[in-house]
Amino acid sequence: MGTYSKNGMDTSDKRITVFDTTLRDGEQSPGTKFSFREKLKIASALEDTGVDIIEAGFPAVSNDEFHSVREINSVASKSTICGLSRCNDDDIDSVINAGLNYIHIFIATSDIHLKNKLKITREQAIEKVKESIEKATRAGLYVEFSAEDATRTDMDFLIKMFEEAERSGAAKINIPDTVGVMNPISMTNLVSDIKKNIKIPISVHCHNDFGLATANSIFGVLGGASQVQVTVNGIGERAGNASFEEVVTSLYAFMNKKTNIDFSKIYKISQMVSEYSGMEIQKNKAITGENAFSHEAGIHVNGVINYPATYEAIDPELVGRQRNIVVGKHSGKSSINWILNKNGIKCSEEEVKFILDEIKSDNSKRVLNEKDIINMANTIKVKGE
Ligand code: KIV
Ligand code: ZN
Repeated sequence: MGTYSKNGMDTSDKRITVFDTTLRDGEQSPGTKFSFREKLKIASALEDTGVDIIEAGFPAVSNDEFHSVREINSVASKSTICGLSRCNDDDIDSVINAGLNYIHIFIATSDIHLKNKLKITREQAIEKVKESIEKATRAGLYVEFSAEDATRTDMDFLIKMFEEAERSGAAKINIPDTVGVMNPISMTNLVSDIKKNIKIPISVHCHNDFGLATANSIFGVLGGASQVQVTVNGIGERAGNASFEEVVTSLYAFMNKKTNIDFSKIYKISQMVSEYSGMEIQKNKAITGENAFSHEAGIHVNGVINYPATYEAIDPELVGRQRNIVVGKHSGKSSINWILNKNGIKCSEEEVKFILDEIKSDNSKRVLNEKDIINMANTIKVKGE
């Protein structure tokens, strides 16, 4: 059990379960379609990275999806493989036939979804959940139950639904913020209120419609959630899901929470998912963006050269990255000298000044890297001979 402070926040250092849904919710990103081979490679990389549970797909949606989920499950050796299912017999049977032991059953619970999408009453929804969870547990499956659009669901009904899921045999409940309408404070409060009524573990699944998915996930943990559902690079429907790399490093850096993740593999898997999903990582994306550990301004470069923590919240090597000193109009002599020294090139003060003047007078938007500076220095040397 967690340790709770007076305001109900979870301050324990217990391990948080990482449930990755890159292959299911992540693949729902507009325009993304992983091939069979890519899915297997991503699943294998997720296993190597230490993800506890991999949602490999939604087996009932197509034959291809069914076969990839079955194959991922048959080759997986470290992570638990899970399949998504609606509350109906065919979906549950597909998960069973794919050979899985772990099912993620969901139904929408908000009035918006019940009235306009499912066209059923709250009571009918409860009945479907009860029947589906009982069927899945009778088949020996571990059931994680999600109340889709939980964060826009009437609170009394949401608790009633989760209580029914627990009574019917669910082993874990998940709270999806399906359209990303929560903020960190409301997320902490929601999870801790639900936790007062439910004994089984609680998971959170946050979407990024307002750019708050990472914050909401870690504040859900603060409220008592012991699992986060995430996707690599935060890919997913619309603005995406909570980003795996941001959530796990934040849990570590700010919340004193352990996970099973090997942080040194984060960058590699992020690159892989970017390539296979066809979704470029924005340059200034936290943790995995090209600029996340790059320094240009003279004051910053001086700072990190002398003492990296001056301008780095975490050591880049922790997440499989390297510090990068780039040179542009904000740079000072220290950047040029650092690059030259690192590469064993000796330049006089005038030569360094010449290189810097050249760079500062360049009006293009180009940012120079180590190689460019080495080339410039070598050209000066050749000319000067
Ligand atoms: O965002 C969502 O509500 C989902 C559910 C299927 C868990 O992805
Ligand atoms: Zn989702």
